Amino acid sequence: MMDMKSCWKFLTSVFIVSFLLGSCSSYQSLCVVDARENANKPEVTLQVDASNASGRPIPETLFGIFFEEINHAGAGGLWAELVSNRGFEAGGQNIPSNIWPWSIIGDESSVYVVTDRSSCFERNKIALRMEVLCNSNGSSNVCPSEGVGVYNPGYWGMNIEEGKKYKVALYVRSTADIDLSVSLTSSDGLLTLASEKIIALASDVSNWTKKEVPLEANGTDHGARLQLTTTKKSSIWFDQVSVMPVDTYKGHGFRKDLLQMMVNLKPRFIRFPGGCFVEGEWLRNAFRWKETVGAWEERPGHFSDVWNYWTDDGLGHFEFFQLAEDLGAAPIWVFNNGISHKDHVETASVMPFVQEALDGIEFARGDSNSRWGSVRAAMGHPEPFELKYVAVGNEDCDNDHKPYYRGNYLEFYNAIKNAYPDIKIISNCDGSSEPLDHPADYYDYHIYTLAMDLFKMSHNFDNTSRVGPKAFVSEYAVNSTDANTGNLLAALGEAGFLLGLEKNSDIVGMVSYAPLFVNTNDRRWNPDAIVFNSSHLYGTPSYWVQQFFTESSGATLLNSTLSGDSSSYLVEASAISFHANGSDYIQIKAVNFGNESVNLKLSLTGLDTSITKVSGSKKKVLTSANVMDENSLSNPEMIVPQESLLEMPEDDLTVVLPPHSLSSFDLVKESADIRQDANTNVKRLLPESFNNVKRNGM
Ligand code: AHR
Repeated sequence: MMDMKSCWKFLTSVFIVSFLLGSCSSYQSLCVVDARENANKPEVTLQVDASNASGRPIPETLFGIFFEEINHAGAGGLWAELVSNRGFEAGGQNIPSNIWPWSIIGDESSVYVVTDRSSCFERNKIALRMEVLCNSNGSSNVCPSEGVGVYNPGYWGMNIEEGKKYKVALYVRSTADIDLSVSLTSSDGLLTLASEKIIALASDVSNWTKKEVPLEANGTDHGARLQLTTTKKSSIWFDQVSVMPVDTYKGHGFRKDLLQMMVNLKPRFIRFPGGCFVEGEWLRNAFRWKETVGAWEERPGHFSDVWNYWTDDGLGHFEFFQLAEDLGAAPIWVFNNGISHKDHVETASVMPFVQEALDGIEFARGDSNSRWGSVRAAMGHPEPFELKYVAVGNEDCDNDHKPYYRGNYLEFYNAIKNAYPDIKIISNCDGSSEPLDHPADYYDYHIYTLAMDLFKMSHNFDNTSRVGPKAFVSEYAVNSTDANTGNLLAALGEAGFLLGLEKNSDIVGMVSYAPLFVNTNDRRWNPDAIVFNSSHLYGTPSYWVQQFFTESSGATLLNSTLSGDSSSYLVEASAISFHANGSDYIQIKAVNFGNESVNLKLSLTGLDTSITKVSGSKKKVLTSANVMDENSLSNPEMIVPQESLLEMPEDDLTVVLPPHSLSSFDLVKESADIRQDANTNVKRLLPESFNNVKRNGM
């Protein structure tokens, strides 16, 4: 009989052998064990001081995410609302207006629709009036049996799935009795997936009345639509028509599959709601938080003139804080500082904007009796949100075009520090090459460039002054010239940059990629980390690179030095140690930006005396046959990290970095007790020489 450990050893060996046989035949460069493979390759050495004592703590909040309402990231994306233009406001306040994407079911003789300003909601007065000219009986103008009315295709089709429940809510008014079908149908309207009736007497709907209709789908269509139809002659008004899936993340309205992609990055912070979205082309179109809170029906929505689409603002100021809380990430609120792309408020007149920011902070942090805290409490969150970071504007530190930034910034800085001394304030001015001329806790740093340039920028912060505010690299990415819509080349440039940021995390406090999301139906910016349509999604290689850093925040950066001809072989590497699931790990991450394999020799010194053995644990490799390869909706996992057990060679700590790859190697540290077991029962994964490495105090 095999005992458990022998059994484990056997299974492990079988797994490793199968893996090697499989992967060596199909993709040679994934093999790290074959000594013959290691011969004649360029070699670099990573000398790692494995002592935690001489390492440096990495900030708890180093890696996070940046959510911007761009590319329909929120409206038609993370926010699960299925109706687009639910309040008919998107066409503007002048009537009659365009009601896109709503469309009419029926011809001119049977129905017509028009917008008017009769809504019961003061901040969004536009409503839809539907005149039904046909009737269910009579000798002429009989309605078609399927009825006439309007439909909404959502954001390029609603994802309706068999067995799932949906909550339709709408406001209705009529001068006659109504008999209305509320249906979810296939994209052409021919197949009904779910349907219920609203029947009411004229006296019951002569004033605006809210109707809620639960629906359960009996079929699936990823491009479905909502239909409101009738065969009864009447005048009917509609406003604020919503379809929400019942099954959202924690019931908070977030699309589950997209949110899970965020969760999987283990983000320690979330910056929101933009980007340029915060600024607006013109101030009148900037995101203004007060317009996005309270009952969803009462939010006016707004047109983002930077990204050129309408948002109903279901994903508003409250929901962003809820999102941060659900992710376990620190919220970082970016607010407008009186400056847009094309106009501005002079410093002498900026106080109303300052007050708006203070009110927005009170909304998040004030107690539930405070003016704005009470609004939050009424929305279902009496406890304050933990807001500790705010950013004053986005990309506004530009003396030539935005002369009022510094003046405006100081007004915000002084007012916020005075009211909330613990809040960390982020300036838009770059402090990486020379000190800031104003007080700040962080400075915002954005970089979009070519892959090779970003790779080389791994050393960008090496010579930055160690005094003064820290950098918040809140937007970085290889841009579309090199990246197309998100290829491996871009991801590897970013990986090199991130390794450099990790190493400089004494002065780089926070890092996030941009943009996070893109709906394939409205690409406003390429590339992005997560690509989706109504029902499917995938991570670009840039997304997966971020996943290599999920253990970094709060870990210990180990001193490491890369030698050999590393620059010509385009290799960058770092070493960290971290604790997870009851074990201590050393993690080596290395990117090979070049097109030939490189041997990476590991040399560990300085292990603490209590550590008797370091064993190979897990390796992860992100690569592809062609560096220009991309994932796609039809091939979503072409380039994803391949994980396997890490088997180290018996007499050599050399691993192979495949061409165009990012790899991580997790080594588990074992102490004396475990060593006892290891020696007797489990095959040693590392050579004797490895166990005799120089230790602290020896
Ligand atoms: O990430 C896309 C845009 O790039 C952001 O809105 C802006 O801050 C930057 O210019």
